[in-house]
Amino acid sequence: MSIRRLPAELINRIAAGEVVERPANALKELLENALDSGASAVSVRLHAGGLELIEASDDGCGMAPEEMRLALERHATSKLPDDAIDRVTSFGFRGEALPSIASVSRVTLESRVRGADGWRIEIDHGQPAGEGPAALPPGTRVKVEGLFDKVPARRKFLRSPRAEYAACLDAVKRLAMARSDVGFTLDHDGRRILTLQPAEPPARVAELLSHELERHGIGIDCVRDGLGLSGVISLPTFNRGVADQQYLFVNSRPVKDRLLIGALRAAYRDLIARDRHPIAALFLDVPLDAVDVNVHPAKTEVRFRDPAAVRGLIVGGLRHALDEESGRSAAREQAAAPVMWSTSQEVRHPDEGRDPVWTPAYAGVQVVAENQRLFEPAPAARAEPAVEPVPSFPLGVARGQVAATYIVAEAEDGLVIVDQHAAHERLVLERMRAARDGGLVARQALLMPEVIELDEPDCDRLEGAAAELGEMGLDVERFGPTAMLVRAVPAALGKTDAAGLLADLAAEIADLGGPLSLRDKLDHVAATIACHGSVRAGRILSVAEMNALLREMEVTPRSGQCNHGRPTWVKLGHGEIEKLFGRK
Ligand SMILES: Nc1ncnc2c1ncn2[C@@H]1O[C@H](COP(=O)(O)OP(=O)(O)OP(=O)(O)O)[C@@H](O)[C@H]1O
Ligand SMILES: [Mg+2]
Repeated sequence: MSIRRLPAELINRIAAGEVVERPANALKELLENALDSGASAVSVRLHAGGLELIEASDDGCGMAPEEMRLALERHATSKLPDDAIDRVTSFGFRGEALPSIASVSRVTLESRVRGADGWRIEIDHGQPAGEGPAALPPGTRVKVEGLFDKVPARRKFLRSPRAEYAACLDAVKRLAMARSDVGFTLDHDGRRILTLQPAEPPARVAELLSHELERHGIGIDCVRDGLGLSGVISLPTFNRGVADQQYLFVNSRPVKDRLLIGALRAAYRDLIARDRHPIAALFLDVPLDAVDVNVHPAKTEVRFRDPAAVRGLIVGGLRHALDEESGRSAAREQAAAPVMWSTSQEVRHPDEGRDPVWTPAYAGVQVVAENQRLFEPAPAARAEPAVEPVPSFPLGVARGQVAATYIVAEAEDGLVIVDQHAAHERLVLERMRAARDGGLVARQALLMPEVIELDEPDCDRLEGAAAELGEMGLDVERFGPTAMLVRAVPAALGKTDAAGLLADLAAEIADLGGPLSLRDKLDHVAATIACHGSVRAGRILSVAEMNALLREMEVTPRSGQCNHGRPTWVKLGHGEIEKLFGRK
């Protein structure tokens, strides 16, 4: 590798900006250099979350002493041999990282080319602080100490060692996923945190992401128009409160690109609540000339020549995979664990009072012991005698309703409990979608148009979305500065509280203000409408209604989870029931 100073006109084309803001940025740059040097093993040592020490060692090509001096100069790089900044495949290309880090810390750079002796150069806050021979195996070792010690303006933005450590760990994980063929180790404060042997990408991802994903993940592998997408995503029911486990890569470069994050979000829209986040590791492969990596100082964002195609591949590919898995639900398996269920010992005798017994883990599901039912049927619970043979419906035949909220059904292989509101909401949404996609939205005109008073900004929002709402069967018009007129509602809704619906929709539209496509917005709005049109918890259903709901669920895509990502039903298999009673 020969390092050279870049010509001025090329320097000016490079996305400039602050590269190092905290230890994790510096570590990322060192790791990228190590990977670019052709290393097969990289080790990292950190002290105090990187605030005291960041050290990265590799067994890559190394540098001769004169190259080391050049490497510490600004805009000197070995990675743009023919100025082809639009076809970079290395992580680095700006020649900026090492000098930036060296200007705000004490750096010791040691390096050795195979067959030559090692050399060491020290830099203290941009100033040469000595050099000389060094003993190290072929490769490079960079030590960064006291980052921002002499830059109080920066130092005060640093967080606790714990938080800085978490960010460093994340940086290591991202690059370790990007390059599964390279071995990694990570030590923090003298403790070994990670040891990763070279592996195939899926194995590496499995090692670094939640192991639960082996059970609750969906493998992704699709190609469209020369773009490839592979990786793993979580089932909608296996989600997190923060979006901290989303790892996205473009041509093996870790990115935190808004377009990609937005596309991931859109694929899960209405399968997951807005404040929950899927887990994902996704690798996008695109031709080099279809993407520009030189748009962000930390190289974490990219620009696609055809963003719509990329978005389409991700949303379409993930959605397809999610649809295929729509019957699976993570919570179902958890809920089937016996510990979640109350046993007859926990069911109080009627003498002890009438309160129904709730299991804490699954409040709302009540198992009524047979003898108790003889004395005192729980309020709102009805049971159908199990006389006729059970036809083989996957979700079984309705036997009764519990707490006016859950349908209990008997299937061939076990007992099914359905959350009636969650399930119905899903069905209404899917019906509305199917109708919309088929251009057959049924609307129900109101005999007397309803006037709904709202704030002016809310009215503006609804007025702005009137055409989209109309597509779903909701006809609204502006009626003075602070009111809307509702002329028709989607027939799928039945009788509905128009005022509540409009208020929710206005809030929804305000939230969705971002760069979402029309279709995504429609989907979201449809979900809000569906929630309004659904059978509420607390409504007593007839057996015919219950069975109708079960049959519709069986033929409706994505009916395994509600619009917020919770399961709509759980099943307790015969084997599990036997276990509960100690028969097995
Ligand atoms: N671990 C290493 N092994 C071998 N060479 C290295 C290593 N680290 C840095 N270099 C050399 O030093 C040069 C400067 O590194 P630096 O990180 O400053 O810039 P870069 O990687 O070229 O671009 P960027 O600023 O985008 O990271 C590199 O081009 C490379 O030739
Ligand atoms: Mg670099």
